[in-house]
Amino acid sequence: MNLLLENKINAAMADIFNQLGLDTRFAFVKVSDRPDLSDFQCNGALALAKTAHKNPREIAAAIVSELQKCDFVETLSVDGPGFINIKLKNEFIAQNTDKIAQDERLGCGTTENPHRVVLDYGGPNVAKEMHVGHLRSGVIGEAIRRIERFIGNDVIGDVHLGDWGTPMGMILAEIMRQDGNLDKVTTYDIAQITEFYKRANIRCKEDETAKETARKITAALQDGDAVLRAAWQHLRNESVKAIKENYAKLDVNFDLWWGESDAHETCGKIVELARQKGVSKVDNGAVIIRLEEGNKPKPPVILVKSDGGYTYHTTDIATIKMRVDDLKAQEIVYFTDSRQALHFEQVFEGVQKLGIAPNVGLKHIVFGTVNGADGKPFKTRDGGVMNLETLIEMSKDKVRQSLPKAGEIEGYGEAEIEKMVSQIAVAAIKFQDLKNTINSGYVFELDDFAKFEGKTGPYIQYAIARINSVLRKAQANGLEPANVVLQAPEERTLALKLAQLHNVVMRAHQEKEPSIIADYTYSLAQTFSTFYNACPIMSAGNTALASSRLRLAKLVRDVLTLMLYLLGIEAPEVMLKAENKGEE
Ligand code: ARG
Repeated sequence: MNLLLENKINAAMADIFNQLGLDTRFAFVKVSDRPDLSDFQCNGALALAKTAHKNPREIAAAIVSELQKCDFVETLSVDGPGFINIKLKNEFIAQNTDKIAQDERLGCGTTENPHRVVLDYGGPNVAKEMHVGHLRSGVIGEAIRRIERFIGNDVIGDVHLGDWGTPMGMILAEIMRQDGNLDKVTTYDIAQITEFYKRANIRCKEDETAKETARKITAALQDGDAVLRAAWQHLRNESVKAIKENYAKLDVNFDLWWGESDAHETCGKIVELARQKGVSKVDNGAVIIRLEEGNKPKPPVILVKSDGGYTYHTTDIATIKMRVDDLKAQEIVYFTDSRQALHFEQVFEGVQKLGIAPNVGLKHIVFGTVNGADGKPFKTRDGGVMNLETLIEMSKDKVRQSLPKAGEIEGYGEAEIEKMVSQIAVAAIKFQDLKNTINSGYVFELDDFAKFEGKTGPYIQYAIARINSVLRKAQANGLEPANVVLQAPEERTLALKLAQLHNVVMRAHQEKEPSIIADYTYSLAQTFSTFYNACPIMSAGNTALASSRLRLAKLVRDVLTLMLYLLGIEAPEVMLKAENKGEE
């Protein structure tokens, strides 16, 4: 249920505006920019004054004299040129907080327009090591998948595996060069397959004939050559196994494991459709769709290359057709770095000309790169691409240093400590990524990510664990959470913050921007910390005040846990620290 405090104020405002004959489109409040003056403010009088040619302060005064009659109002004032400042009664905020604490969605509503969204993220490639770019796409995609699902959309996350391009022919050619045939292919594991790819890559860069061979093999594979297909299937299976393991470590999940290859048959249909509709042309033996109309000329979509093969454009256009026809997608969102911006512009324009996705929202969300301290894309020490596995291991090593060793604390053996290490390491990596706006890049700095203080994943996990510990103590003392009473200013500030959840989640959904959730999470944890320092719980005795504070603390714990969940991060029940050899 949407339990924003604004709802009640807005409803009253709409009545008043109606009564005064004012345009109700301006009858709404927003969280105040001046928390010292008010909780909410309405700037409607200013907007109305312009069209009505009236003094905005007069309009505001008329609204205020009606608003005064509302039972939720503590104080009202008209400030500056005509801002209405509203302070709410403590009891009203407290009652709403009780409702939020009892609501299973913690006061968060759902979308008014539920629809089916296909998310295309991850995008790893067969036989190529996953790098930090695939990390970002996976981490952001998983967060959006959870946010979209939570607000009530029907979400399908698809990995869109790169399994159909020239690299496939390159690897197969390399294996044949070594073995003379493909008989041994099924004995190769992912490490060996990756090696073949690396060698093939070097060879094809230097040797034009090797490149030509790889191209021919790719074309034969795509044409359905049975031996090549069987060998390719093994490469794909092994890769998918390894990719799944990698993403599982990061708790990045997919509903579908479709790849470019699954679009192959539809590619043929797309080429035929383009011809029938007269949108394609044959140009130097290739089939293309020209896009140069308008003031910004763009390179054409290439549907079929002069050697007969399909392209990355073709598979993406065909995949859109499948997502629309078979999956009934109403919105499709892609997550890649900016190097593919032109690609998606071309694909979306091609789709529009073909008319295969009418009324379907197509969005490409571009993320910034993960950089090293030198400001350039993050590399290993020897200058290679940093792969995902190494990165996770590095983060775990770092976290392990902050935790007690297995066996040092009763009940925490190897398995328990390692579970905690993974949870914290993943939180460190993911939160760092998601706290930045998607389109900005960031510097990969493990020392900062894994800190237990500051705007980090472990800090939020730690805040949750501290509250868990308070809740356990309260339970042991028979203290139960009960109705919220707001006395101290810190209690009031915290309750107002908790009531903002619905807006935070909805904005993150609308803007496809998990950093909105990360920002709120951090600021809520800080607000809680201020509250907790000023408003002790256990030392307040077994009183109504202690029970009220306990309810606030529990609610903060639940909200923080939900926020981390939406970011794809698990919160351990207990967090240990090496220096004090135990729980805080
Ligand atoms: N496999 C691609 C890469 O590694 C990313 C795929 C993105 N999704 C898509 N539908 N093209 O760059």
